[in-house]
Parts: sequence; C-alpha cells; structure tokens
Amino acid sequence: MAKKNQIGLDADKAKKLSEKLNLLLANYQLFYINARGFHWNITGEKFFELHLKFEELYTDALLKVDEIAERILTLSNTPLHTFSDYTKHSKIKEVKNVTEGKQAVKKVLEGFTTLLELEREILSLSADANDEGTNALMSDYIREQEKSVWMYSAYLK
Ligand SMILES: [Fe+2]
Repeated sequence: MAKKNQIGLDADKAKKLSEKLNLLLANYQLFYINARGFHWNITGEKFFELHLKFEELYTDALLKVDEIAERILTLSNTPLHTFSDYTKHSKIKEVKNVTEGKQAVKKVLEGFTTLLELEREILSLSADANDEGTNALMSDYIREQEKSVWMYSAYLK
C-alpha cells in the first residue's frame, strides 16, 4: 500500500502536488510584483481608476501567495521563499517600466492565463490524489480569476 502522509494523503502524490504548488507560488509572486509596479507607475487619465484597481489586485495576490505557501507546508514541503527561486521558476516574467493603462491590463491578462493553466493542472492532480483541501482552493481561485479575466478584457474593448 502507498505510504500516507500526516494528513492521510498518498505521500508521493502530495509531494508532486506541493512541487506544482511551488511553481504556482513562484508565478504568483511575479504576478504580485508586476501588479505593484503597475499600481505605482501608471499615468494618464485613467490613473485614479487603475491605481486603485491594481492595488486591489496585488492585495488579493498577497493573500493567495500566503495561502499557497501554507498549503505547501500542510502537504509537508517547504515553500520557495527567495526572489532568485521565484524568478528562476516563474513562467510569468518581470515587467518593467509600463506606464500605459491598456498595456498594463494586457500584461495582467497574460498573467491570469498562466495562473489559470497551472491551477487547472493542480486541480486535476489534486482530484486524483483525493486532496480536497488543495482542490477546493484551486476551484476558488479559478472561478475568481475567470471572472477577473472577463472584467479586464471588457476594459480593453
Ligand atoms: Fe499604494
């Protein structure tokens, strides 16, 4: 019989899941710092609107980063915790010197797409591992981010 971890999950499956969650964590940290940059550097007639919107975005990202890291710990692994690891493992890349609103929104949308792809992968792995905790977390994120994609896309039209 497969070895179980402390919370009763298949230990190997939990390990694989926590590694994927570490990738999600790395991507989310880059998503966070990019949103922070947009919040600071945005200029133009939509400044007040977007400055606030991006604050909302990075505040939410900060909460999720912590949830993901603590889920990794719950699955008996260590969350990545250095900038060098984040930039090394993240598919989302650093965005520099974006001041134009629509360009920033496009970058946010690209980020959401990357996060959603990774979360769906984790959703399917967690279903297979019978890991309801991770599964529920991913379905919450997916639902929220899909709605955000609709709204940010509407902004661009
Ligand atoms: Fe601020």
